[in-house]
Amino acid sequence: HDAWLQGHLDTLIRDIPDFPEPGVVFKDITPLLADHDGFSAVIETLARSGRDADGAVIVDKVVGMEARGFILAAPVALALGAGFIPVRKAGKLPGPTHAVEYDLEYGSATLELHRDSIREGERVLIVDDVLATGGTVAATAKLIEQCGGRVAGVAVLMELSFLPGRAAVGDLPFRAVKTV
Ligand code: PRP
Repeated sequence: HDAWLQGHLDTLIRDIPDFPEPGVVFKDITPLLADHDGFSAVIETLARSGRDADGAVIVDKVVGMEARGFILAAPVALALGAGFIPVRKAGKLPGPTHAVEYDLEYGSATLELHRDSIREGERVLIVDDVLATGGTVAATAKLIEQCGGRVAGVAVLMELSFLPGRAAVGDLPFRAVKTV
Protein backbone atom coordinates (compact mmCIF):
# COMPACT_ATOMS: atom_id res chain seq x y z
CA HIS A 1 0.00 0.00 0.00
CA ASP A 2 2.80 2.42 0.91
CA ALA A 3 4.67 1.64 -2.33
CA TRP A 4 1.47 2.20 -4.28
CA LEU A 5 1.02 5.57 -2.56
CA GLN A 6 4.62 6.71 -3.24
CA GLY A 7 4.24 5.98 -6.95
CA HIS A 8 0.83 7.60 -7.03
CA LEU A 9 2.11 10.75 -5.30
CA ASP A 10 4.71 11.27 -8.01
CA THR A 11 1.92 11.71 -10.53
CA LEU A 12 -0.48 13.60 -8.23
CA ILE A 13 1.87 16.30 -6.95
CA ARG A 14 3.04 18.39 -9.87
CA ASP A 15 5.98 20.76 -10.14
CA ILE A 16 5.14 24.26 -11.34
CA PRO A 17 8.38 26.04 -12.27
CA ASP A 18 8.81 29.76 -11.52
CA PHE A 19 5.79 30.03 -9.21
CA PRO A 20 5.10 32.22 -7.28
CA GLU A 21 8.34 33.84 -8.47
CA PRO A 22 11.20 33.03 -10.87
CA GLY A 23 13.52 30.28 -9.63
CA VAL A 24 11.00 28.67 -7.26
CA VAL A 25 9.50 25.26 -8.15
CA PHE A 26 6.03 25.14 -6.60
CA LYS A 27 4.67 21.77 -5.43
CA ASP A 28 1.02 21.77 -6.52
CA ILE A 29 -1.11 19.33 -4.51
CA THR A 30 -4.44 20.12 -6.18
CA PRO A 31 -4.33 16.99 -8.43
CA LEU A 32 -3.85 14.88 -5.27
CA LEU A 33 -6.82 16.54 -3.55
CA ALA A 34 -8.98 15.77 -6.59
CA ASP A 35 -8.07 12.06 -6.46
CA HIS A 36 -10.16 10.26 -3.83
CA ASP A 37 -7.88 7.22 -3.46
CA GLY A 38 -4.72 9.29 -3.21
CA PHE A 39 -6.22 11.86 -0.83
CA SER A 40 -7.66 9.21 1.50
CA ALA A 41 -4.38 7.26 1.57
CA VAL A 42 -2.53 10.47 2.50
CA ILE A 43 -5.00 11.26 5.31
CA GLU A 44 -4.72 7.71 6.69
CA THR A 45 -0.93 7.91 6.62
CA LEU A 46 -0.84 11.31 8.36
CA ALA A 47 -3.34 10.07 10.97
CA ARG A 48 -0.92 7.31 12.03
CA SER A 49 1.03 10.06 13.81
CA GLY A 50 -1.93 10.42 16.18
CA ARG A 51 -2.01 6.74 17.16
CA ASP A 52 0.26 4.44 19.14
CA ALA A 53 1.57 1.09 17.84
CA ASP A 54 -1.70 -0.61 18.88
CA GLY A 55 -3.79 1.92 17.01
CA ALA A 56 -5.05 3.78 20.09
CA VAL A 57 -5.51 7.53 19.60
CA ILE A 58 -2.91 9.51 21.57
CA VAL A 59 -3.90 13.10 20.72
CA ASP A 60 -6.74 15.38 21.84
CA LYS A 61 -6.43 18.02 19.11
CA VAL A 62 -5.07 18.37 15.58
CA VAL A 63 -3.74 21.79 14.58
CA GLY A 64 -3.56 22.86 10.92
CA MET A 65 -2.01 26.02 9.51
CA GLU A 66 -3.65 28.39 7.04
CA ALA A 67 -4.30 27.75 4.29
CA ARG A 68 -3.21 24.45 2.76
CA GLY A 69 -2.65 22.89 6.17
CA PHE A 70 -6.41 23.20 6.84
CA ILE A 71 -7.20 20.88 3.92
CA LEU A 72 -5.13 18.05 5.42
CA ALA A 73 -5.46 18.65 9.17
CA ALA A 74 -9.27 18.77 9.30
CA PRO A 75 -9.82 15.27 7.84
CA VAL A 76 -6.97 13.92 9.99
CA ALA A 77 -8.80 15.29 13.06
CA LEU A 78 -12.03 13.57 11.97
CA ALA A 79 -10.18 10.29 11.31
CA LEU A 80 -8.77 10.39 14.86
CA GLY A 81 -11.95 11.52 16.58
CA ALA A 82 -10.05 14.61 17.75
CA GLY A 83 -10.88 18.32 17.56
CA PHE A 84 -9.53 20.48 14.74
CA ILE A 85 -7.87 23.79 15.63
CA PRO A 86 -6.88 26.41 13.03
CA VAL A 87 -3.67 28.45 13.23
CA ARG A 88 -4.27 31.57 11.17
CA LYS A 89 -2.39 34.51 9.75
CA ALA A 90 -2.57 37.74 11.74
CA GLY A 91 -5.96 39.39 12.23
CA LYS A 92 -8.19 36.53 11.06
CA LEU A 93 -9.24 34.89 14.34
CA PRO A 94 -12.05 36.77 16.14
CA GLY A 95 -11.38 35.80 19.78
CA PRO A 96 -8.43 36.47 22.14
CA THR A 97 -5.28 34.93 20.65
CA HIS A 98 -1.68 34.07 21.30
CA ALA A 99 0.58 35.42 18.52
CA VAL A 100 4.05 34.44 17.36
CA GLU A 101 6.12 36.42 14.88
CA TYR A 102 8.67 34.52 12.78
CA ASP A 103 11.18 35.32 10.06
CA LEU A 104 10.55 34.82 6.37
CA GLU A 105 13.16 35.03 3.63
CA TYR A 106 12.25 38.69 3.28
CA GLY A 107 10.57 40.22 6.33
CA SER A 108 8.41 38.46 8.88
CA ALA A 109 4.95 37.01 9.43
CA THR A 110 2.68 36.46 12.42
CA LEU A 111 0.58 33.38 13.20
CA GLU A 112 -2.22 33.28 15.75
CA LEU A 113 -4.12 30.68 17.77
CA HIS A 114 -7.24 31.15 19.91
CA ARG A 115 -6.14 31.11 23.56
CA ASP A 116 -9.02 28.90 24.66
CA SER A 117 -8.70 26.39 21.79
CA ILE A 118 -6.24 24.11 23.60
CA ARG A 119 -6.44 23.32 27.31
CA GLU A 120 -3.54 22.84 29.72
CA GLY A 121 -1.97 19.40 29.19
CA GLU A 122 -3.80 18.50 25.99
CA ARG A 123 -1.80 16.49 23.45
CA VAL A 124 -1.64 18.10 20.04
CA LEU A 125 -0.65 16.84 16.59
CA ILE A 126 0.55 19.45 14.04
CA VAL A 127 -0.39 18.73 10.40
CA ASP A 128 0.68 20.75 7.35
CA ASP A 129 1.27 20.23 3.64
CA VAL A 130 4.94 21.21 3.37
CA LEU A 131 7.89 21.45 5.74
CA ALA A 132 10.34 23.87 4.11
CA THR A 133 12.39 26.16 6.39
CA GLY A 134 10.40 24.96 9.40
CA GLY A 135 9.45 28.49 10.45
CA THR A 136 5.73 27.73 10.31
CA VAL A 137 6.01 24.53 12.37
CA ALA A 138 8.28 26.18 14.96
CA ALA A 139 5.88 29.12 15.37
CA THR A 140 2.91 26.74 15.65
CA ALA A 141 4.64 24.63 18.31
CA LYS A 142 5.30 27.83 20.32
CA LEU A 143 1.63 28.83 20.08
CA ILE A 144 0.50 25.41 21.33
CA GLU A 145 2.93 25.61 24.25
CA GLN A 146 1.69 29.12 25.12
CA CYS A 147 -1.77 27.57 25.60
CA GLY A 148 -0.27 24.91 27.88
CA GLY A 149 -0.64 22.17 25.26
CA ARG A 150 1.94 19.46 24.57
CA VAL A 151 3.04 18.89 20.99
CA ALA A 152 2.76 15.13 20.43
CA GLY A 153 4.12 15.16 16.89
CA VAL A 154 4.43 16.79 13.49
CA ALA A 155 3.04 15.17 10.31
CA VAL A 156 3.45 16.71 6.86
CA LEU A 157 2.64 15.59 3.36
CA MET A 158 5.99 16.73 1.96
CA GLU A 159 9.38 17.46 3.45
CA LEU A 160 11.77 19.50 1.31
CA SER A 161 15.02 17.89 2.41
CA PHE A 162 17.22 20.54 0.76
CA LEU A 163 15.92 23.05 3.33
CA PRO A 164 16.64 22.94 7.08
CA GLY A 165 13.06 22.32 8.30
CA ARG A 166 13.93 19.23 10.34
CA ALA A 167 16.08 21.27 12.71
CA ALA A 168 12.96 23.25 13.64
CA VAL A 169 11.09 20.02 14.43
CA GLY A 170 13.87 19.03 16.86
CA ASP A 171 13.18 15.87 18.87
CA LEU A 172 9.42 15.76 18.26
CA PRO A 173 8.06 12.64 16.57
CA PHE A 174 8.02 13.46 12.85
CA ARG A 175 6.43 11.93 9.77
CA ALA A 176 6.67 13.03 6.14
CA VAL A 177 4.48 11.09 3.69
CA LYS A 178 6.93 12.07 0.98
CA THR A 179 10.48 13.47 1.08
CA VAL A 180 11.75 15.41 -1.91
C1 PRP B 1 3.45 27.23 3.05
C2 PRP B 1 3.11 25.81 3.44
C3 PRP B 1 3.56 25.69 4.87
C4 PRP B 1 4.74 26.64 4.92
C5 PRP B 1 6.03 25.87 4.93
O1 PRP B 1 2.44 28.06 3.50
O2 PRP B 1 1.72 25.56 3.29
O3 PRP B 1 2.57 26.10 5.79
O4 PRP B 1 4.67 27.48 3.75
O5 PRP B 1 7.13 26.74 4.90
P1 PRP B 1 8.18 26.88 6.08
O6 PRP B 1 8.53 25.50 6.55
O7 PRP B 1 9.33 27.55 5.39
O8 PRP B 1 7.58 27.71 7.16
P2 PRP B 1 2.18 29.55 2.96
O9 PRP B 1 2.73 30.50 3.97
O10 PRP B 1 2.64 29.65 1.55
O11 PRP B 1 0.61 29.69 3.10
P3 PRP B 1 -0.63 29.12 2.28
O12 PRP B 1 -0.83 27.69 2.71
O13 PRP B 1 -1.70 30.01 2.77
O14 PRP B 1 -0.34 29.25 0.80
